[in-house]
Amino acid sequence: MIDQVQREQLEEEACAVRDRAYAPYSKFRVGAAVLGGSGAMYSGVNVENASFGLTTCAERVAIFKAVSAGERNILAVAVCTESGVTPCGACRQVIREFASDCPLFVLDANGNSRETSLKALLPESFGRGDLE
Ligand code: THU
Repeated sequence: MIDQVQREQLEEEACAVRDRAYAPYSKFRVGAAVLGGSGAMYSGVNVENASFGLTTCAERVAIFKAVSAGERNILAVAVCTESGVTPCGACRQVIREFASDCPLFVLDANGNSRETSLKALLPESFGRGDLE
């Protein structure tokens, strides 16, 4: 579970880090933050490449930082873009690896926030439990 203070911190972090997005090609800047099971937060930005296919989304950067720090559970995700769009399909599946469901806070550049969930964005999902 995530409390209101944690939600606000996660949202602030996602929007603050967005300034550091490396998006010289698309100019589409994304900031993300995830709350790990330990209670620590990890942020990320999209990192583009002149070889376009090597671009990594902000959500995955934040998740990979969390996992590299030892986290194995994601309790919540916040993502901040200009217009407040939801994470791409690939990022939804990567979140799913570390959460069967979790709240997802979607923010725009004006700070407007709305809550959705992984289950809402990725229904009937495939996860590690399905391999057992
Ligand atoms: N992008 C993200 O960082 N997250 C998403 O969920 C959607 C797309 C990035 C990738 C690329 O740098 C730019 O947005 C345009 O696709």
